[in-house]
Amino acid sequence: MLRLKPAALVALMRAAGGGRRCRDPSGGARVRSLCSAAPPQPVIAAKEPFPVELKAGKTYGWCACGHSKRQPFCDGAHKKEAPGLSPLRFTPTEDGPAWLCGCKQTRTPPYCDGSHKGDAVQAAPLPPRA
Ligand code: FES
Repeated sequence: MLRLKPAALVALMRAAGGGRRCRDPSGGARVRSLCSAAPPQPVIAAKEPFPVELKAGKTYGWCACGHSKRQPFCDGAHKKEAPGLSPLRFTPTEDGPAWLCGCKQTRTPPYCDGSHKGDAVQAAPLPPRA
């Protein structure tokens, strides 16, 4: 069995995971830790898009993590629930209705591209909402 000294193990794991700073999901202080190298994944907020009226020239923050309680817009929940994910800021060039993605699986964010119709989204459980 391969045995490594703790410092060597830490160096190896940091090299694999980048030694990123992570935030304790409970809201604790930032700690330098050995994090997973896997990028954070969004949760499915809804299994269909949200119809909205957009204003030209106004900047919106589309929730990319799925944790916002103001769907489809960001309420800052990603800071605690999904560090590493950020809202997508966008500014429409025309007034009018739009369908913004609620499943967070679209390939054309923030707009729905029909990805929510797939089995992966339709079979997935929705997170509990307060
Ligand atoms: S709601 Fe996400 S692609 Fe349609």
